[in-house]
Amino acid sequence: MIAPSILSADFARLGEEVAAVARDGETRADWVHVDVMDNHFVPNLTLGLPVVESLQKVSDVPLDCHLMIDNPDKWAPGYAEAGAYNVTVHAEAAHDPVMLAKNLRAAGAKAGLSVKPGTPLEDHLEVLKHYDTLLVMSVEPGFGGQSFIPDVLEKVRTARRLVDTGHLTLLVEIDGGINASTITQAAEAGVDCFVAGSAVYGADDPGRAVAALRDQAAGARSAH
Ligand code: DX5
Ligand code: ZN
Repeated sequence: MIAPSILSADFARLGEEVAAVARDGETRADWVHVDVMDNHFVPNLTLGLPVVESLQKVSDVPLDCHLMIDNPDKWAPGYAEAGAYNVTVHAEAAHDPVMLAKNLRAAGAKAGLSVKPGTPLEDHLEVLKHYDTLLVMSVEPGFGGQSFIPDVLEKVRTARRLVDTGHLTLLVEIDGGINASTITQAAEAGVDCFVAGSAVYGADDPGRAVAALRDQAAGARSAH
């Protein structure tokens, strides 16, 4: 699955930018990734609930909201209520991640847990039993266009193993620095869903970029 991140899109034309990856066919994104930043959890500020509510009205591609915010226990359920398909919170920021996952699901969304590059997976394995997606950050959260950190693939391999052996039931997602040069190694490590910001919205044709990345990932997974 490919989830273009609108962090790299033109914010003045967000509706059109989403539409560019929403047409039926191979250029259609599986999810649209929406990076919410509060300038506290990360040193950057982006968008919040009103923008998600507006996107929800114009797009039928499932929204994947990645909340890089403090106190997600309080704010995240609102994104689920707005109709987001998957709402991801950070393990480093959540106070009661089990309760939070329950609240997200009760509000009708999938629950996602994200770990920064330096956060060990082992500390969160029990909690992950309550989640539908694991978002492994492959850059420090905060900005698009950074370089992929290959060390995090060890966490992807661990998660893949736990899913394949039935110890966890979740989708493994990766976010940061995914492009034509890095997606193969991530796919081989066992990623299910690839977030790509600059690789999609920095391309001349975002839809074509989605199709090309998906082809490359599928080739790597089947060769493995
Ligand atoms: C970074 C965001 C990412 C970002 C990825 O904090 O979570 O979703 O948009 O951008 P690229 O693909 O350019 O690294
Ligand atoms: Zn993100």
